[in-house]
Order: sequence, then structure tokens, then C-alpha cells
Amino acid sequence: MPSRFRCIRCGREYEPGSVFRCECGGLLEVVHDPMGWSRSVVDSRLCPMGAPYSSGVWRYKELIHPGLASNMIVTRPEGNTNVYQRRTVSEYAGVERLSMKHEGENPTGSFKDRGMTVAVSEAVRQGAKAVACASTGNTSASMAAYAAQAGLQGIVFIPDGEISYGKLSQALAYGSKVVQVPGSFDDAMRIVQEVSRDLGLYLLNSINPWRVEGQKSIVFEMLHQRGWEPPDWIVVPAGNLGNTSAFGKALSELLELGWIDRVPRIASIQAEGAAPFYKMWKSGASSLEAVKPDTVATAIKIGNPVSWEKALRVIRETDGVVDVVSDAEIMEAKAVVDASGVGCEPASAASVAGVKKLVSKGMIKPDEDVVCVLTGNLLKDSDATIGYHTGKLKDLTPKQPNAPIRVDAGSMSASLRRILGE
Ligand code: F0G
Repeated sequence: MPSRFRCIRCGREYEPGSVFRCECGGLLEVVHDPMGWSRSVVDSRLCPMGAPYSSGVWRYKELIHPGLASNMIVTRPEGNTNVYQRRTVSEYAGVERLSMKHEGENPTGSFKDRGMTVAVSEAVRQGAKAVACASTGNTSASMAAYAAQAGLQGIVFIPDGEISYGKLSQALAYGSKVVQVPGSFDDAMRIVQEVSRDLGLYLLNSINPWRVEGQKSIVFEMLHQRGWEPPDWIVVPAGNLGNTSAFGKALSELLELGWIDRVPRIASIQAEGAAPFYKMWKSGASSLEAVKPDTVATAIKIGNPVSWEKALRVIRETDGVVDVVSDAEIMEAKAVVDASGVGCEPASAASVAGVKKLVSKGMIKPDEDVVCVLTGNLLKDSDATIGYHTGKLKDLTPKQPNAPIRVDAGSMSASLRRILGE
């Protein structure tokens, strides 16, 4: 039977189309048929030279979009991101076994490419002419690139003046139409849903269940890289909650297949000023109350995350936790990750800052095995990095600034000796 959509509330099933909510209001997810394929199939795909199986997404095709014809696949290819261990970062966070899976190594510099290759391929299958998304920057950069490759018109809605220039420049350069919306990401998200319905645009935010299917491959690939040996924890920054949702779905599917024998706990980390999911989880409320978001980590500056229902289910099912970190904690963690030579954008560092916080609370034990997901590349938000190192970020005194130094041309050697402490 082909893959289908199922309501996470009432279980009603639909043929995959462009409606992403059930009649009862519940969110939809993709369900596939149990398959007669095995781990040896994906093992044999580890080193192929060509698309689509050289992709760290399409290597797991049967778990992501089994029915899709190969000639519909729009791939760069994506994934195949590295896992790093750095002593300085482990010491900072307070756990010995800390790995960072660097999703900033994807083609457009963030994890979004994993969901986008799947959802844009589905758009092609459906014969879409134009695709749309709201974005805090990375989704729009990714969508614009994949839309260009597929020959589709992209239209992105961004909160005016709220996204980093690196990301805005990608969307413009790849040729999407960029609409600047007054207000926040949440306003843009509401508008894009209305406009997509009215104009028949294929919506590519993570409310589209195919995006979530693609993002499951972060977990598939990470476990594959570890010989299918699960860590104790997976720690992930949380904004619109697509990743949290995808990670839980990936883990429960692997458990059901018997590829793993236990499920790591998921920790979703929000920025203190944009933490509606944390507030709901902490208070035990049954539904999410939107907030007005404010954080230096613009990628996760989201007050009304669309996938909270899926994410809540994941936190419950994985015995997970939700926590918050301040902007200062995010930027200090980023400085440590950056100075280790790995580097990431601010939102990504919420994961490492989150580990430090959870260790200090005794929630994560120092001898546990922890994987942080770094969601975006260091180059995505150079303003934040330079602002930190020059001490120009609002309400934040950097602990380890490394500002550029101005020297007189005439006394260069003397000045350099002084700088280097000779
Ligand atoms: N990290 C980065 C770098 C992001 O760009 C995002 C989301 C997140 C984390 C949060 O992930 O939404 O799955 O919880 N960025 C979206 C965008 C909203 O429009 O680029 P999530």
C-alpha cells in the first residue's frame, strides 16, 4: 500500500495532498507500510558515487518516501554530515562523551536541506508550479535552492528585518521571491498558510509531513555512523519543533524495525525569550500558548510553533525533557564550539548550552553518552558572531571576546609582539 497521511489525534487517514490538517484539527503525519527490506540494504549504500543513494537522506528512501519514482528526486545530494568530538566542548558542557553532529555541513548550510529534498521532490510529483514557506531564514535559503534546481518558482515570507543577511542573501541569490512581512515569524507562518491555500502554492514549512520525513534522516544517519548504537541523549535546539517531531518518529520507527533496541532520551532546548513549548511542558498545560518571541538566536525566534503536538508526543514517548537557555548561555556556548574549530550559528549552540544546563541540574549524568545536533553553519549569521566578539550584543558581556585589532602600519612588528604577549 502506498504511503499515506494519518491524523495524530483521531487516526483518520488521507491520501497525501496539500492539506496538512485533519478535519478534526489534528496534525497529520506520514505512515508507510511495513517493509521487507533489511539493514544490509542501507549498509550497501554507504559508499555509492551517484545520486540518489549517495545522499544521506535518500540512502534511507524506504523509510522516507518509498513510493517515489527516482526521476522525481531533487537532490544535491544532502546529508553525510560529520560527527565531531572536541575536548574543550565536552569540558565546557560537563560530559565526557559529547558528540556534535554538524548539520551546518549540508549544501545550503543547515539541516533544512534534508526535509527540503523530500518535500520538493513531492512537489514535483504533484506537478506543483510554485512553492512557498515562511522562514526565520534557513528554510527559505534551502527552499530557494531546491526550487531553483527543480525549476519551480519559490516565494518566501520572512519577518521584516528579523533574519540574518547570510540567509536572506541565499534566498535572493537562488531566485525566490522574498516577501517581507511586518511582525514575527509567527505572522509570516499564518500568512503563508492563507496565501498558499488561496493561490494553490505548495507549502514547504515543516507542517508539511514530508519535511519531517526527510529530517528523520538526521537520526538515521547519526545512528548509522555509530553502528546503530544509540546514545543516551539527543539534544536539539527547538523552534518550530519540526526536528523534535522528526527525531522521535525516526526513533520509534527504528525501534519497531528492530534496528535499535532502545530509544535515547530527547532534550529539546528553547531560547529563554522564545519558549512557549517549554512553558507548556513545565506547567503541564494541555495546549500551547503563544508568546511574543525575543532572542539573539533569530533562527528559533518563534512564539507559536506549529508542530508542538507532535513534539509533545515525542518528549513523552522518549522520556525526554524540555529546557531553556538564555541568550548569554547560547552565545557563550557558541563561542566555545566556534573556538574548537567546529563552529555553528547561534541557534545551534542552544544544544550545547542545553547540555551544560541539564548536567548542572543533574538531569544528564557526566558519564552519559550525548549527541548534540548543530543545526546551522557558522557563516549563516556573521553579525551575531562579530557582535559577540566586539562586545556589541545587547545586554551581553562576552566572556571570551576576540575582537579584531587595529595597529599602526609603522610599528607593526612591535604591536604584534605586544598582542602575542612576547
Ligand atoms: N536551528 C536552526 C539553525 C534553524 O534554522 C531552526 C529553524 C531551528 C534550529 C529550529 O528547528 O523548527 O525544527 O524546531 N528554522 C526555521 C526556519 C524555523 O525558518 O529556517 P525546529
